[in-house]
Amino acid sequence: MIIIKQLSTLNFKMRQLRDQDKNIALIPTMGNLHAGHLSLVHEAQKKADIIVVSIFVNPIQFENAEDLSNYPHTLKEDCKKLDDQKVDIVFIPSVIDMYPNGIINQTFVEVPYLSQLLEGHKRPGHFRGVTTIVSKLFNLVRPNIAFFGEKDFQQLVIIRKMVIDMNFNIHIVAVRTVRAHDGLALSSRNRYLRLDERKIAPSLYNVIKNMSQRLNKNDYHIDEIITNAEVTLKKEGLRPDSVAIVDATTLESVNKHTKHAVILIAAFLGKVRLIDSQQVYLNKKK
Ligand code: PAF
Repeated sequence: MIIIKQLSTLNFKMRQLRDQDKNIALIPTMGNLHAGHLSLVHEAQKKADIIVVSIFVNPIQFENAEDLSNYPHTLKEDCKKLDDQKVDIVFIPSVIDMYPNGIINQTFVEVPYLSQLLEGHKRPGHFRGVTTIVSKLFNLVRPNIAFFGEKDFQQLVIIRKMVIDMNFNIHIVAVRTVRAHDGLALSSRNRYLRLDERKIAPSLYNVIKNMSQRLNKNDYHIDEIITNAEVTLKKEGLRPDSVAIVDATTLESVNKHTKHAVILIAAFLGKVRLIDSQQVYLNKKK
């Protein structure tokens, strides 16, 4: 595995690989890698010759300095995990290389509308930060294919739209959420849960499962399903921040014609904001 920190080295190496006609996969990450990230690597290895994982804690997608400074940096362990998985290249750029003119003067890539909905409404500027860094990484690595987790479902939808709007010739692959034995979606944030909170955390997934079971039975009392989910989350000790059932492509409210929907939940457990999602297929023919 090669660790590359300089943009010029990356450029040189990627050009060599492209000249050899290699099929290149990119997995953008912010480090603090867990089995969810490693499943992206695993999927990428089935579809590409060269796997590039980027590790960059992107300052412009954090809403506040505290969240940014609290973000765990575990580079050594991350590199070990990636080496064990036989990743080809780890790209670890510096903030100064990624934002040479500073953040104030940075040119942004922003997907309108979709970036303002749901999570975007709760975390202003977040998705603009994500699409800006992901498009920079796309330009630097120039992969044929890139992998993202389904857990951050809105991020995935927004990146797909950005790829179309910006004519990136990159195939985006969504990878299923990896869960702990009790159903909790793996996330870098789980490490901040206290022991007692960690025991409660799987109820987020239980609520999602109940919601999807009702939808799968063609029960479309959407408002009631959402209210019920909020009540259950509160009863379990979580503070729902947003519970939604929306079209999986447009992120608009579902209607009687919607076929592919997604349940999106964000809830606080103590200070930790957990998110999870599940896709559901509606209006199935009997
Ligand atoms: O999902 C993440 O970890 C980040 O948002 C991403 C895609 C690596 C961009 O910084």
